[in-house]
Amino acid sequence: NYPGTIFEAIGGADTIAQLVHHFYKRVGAHPDLIPIFPDDLTETEQKQYWFLTQFFGGPALFTLNRGHPMMRRRHLPFEITPTRRDAWLQCMDKALDETNIDEPYRTAMFERLTMTAHHMMNTPE
Ligand code: HEM
Repeated sequence: NYPGTIFEAIGGADTIAQLVHHFYKRVGAHPDLIPIFPDDLTETEQKQYWFLTQFFGGPALFTLNRGHPMMRRRHLPFEITPTRRDAWLQCMDKALDETNIDEPYRTAMFERLTMTAHHMMNTPE
């Protein structure tokens, strides 16, 4: 159960699955993000489920299935501008609300995701 982790505190695998589902519904409808994402987001959602499970202290599913995370390197093929970073974070902010994640976990999660999103930028506007 990964005691003491955000993963456990928010409800574990079910909560992460709901979060990524709400998130990719928004990504797939966001005009700034559509151009760089695949039409079918099923596999993207699966990978993000693995990643966020691991990121918030659950089992290391991403590493198990995909190897070393090296997130910035995996994003280099995509032009991630400040506008796209903001769009990504906006989708995540709304998905956290839709998933009803309680404080203080909601804010802690959004702060960590914000730092990671800044790190993913690789293209000026
Ligand atoms: C993959 C965009 C930030 C985690 C991707 C893909 C795109 C993308 C286009 C490829 C989708 C696919 O082919 O399946 C963006 C944009 C971001 C962003 C525009 C804005 C800053 C983040 C952040 C995280 C993240 C902050 C983690 C907290 C992932 C993961 C994958 C992925 C886990 C799958 C990597 C793989 O296994 O190949 N992202 N991303 N992304 N992204 Fe992001």
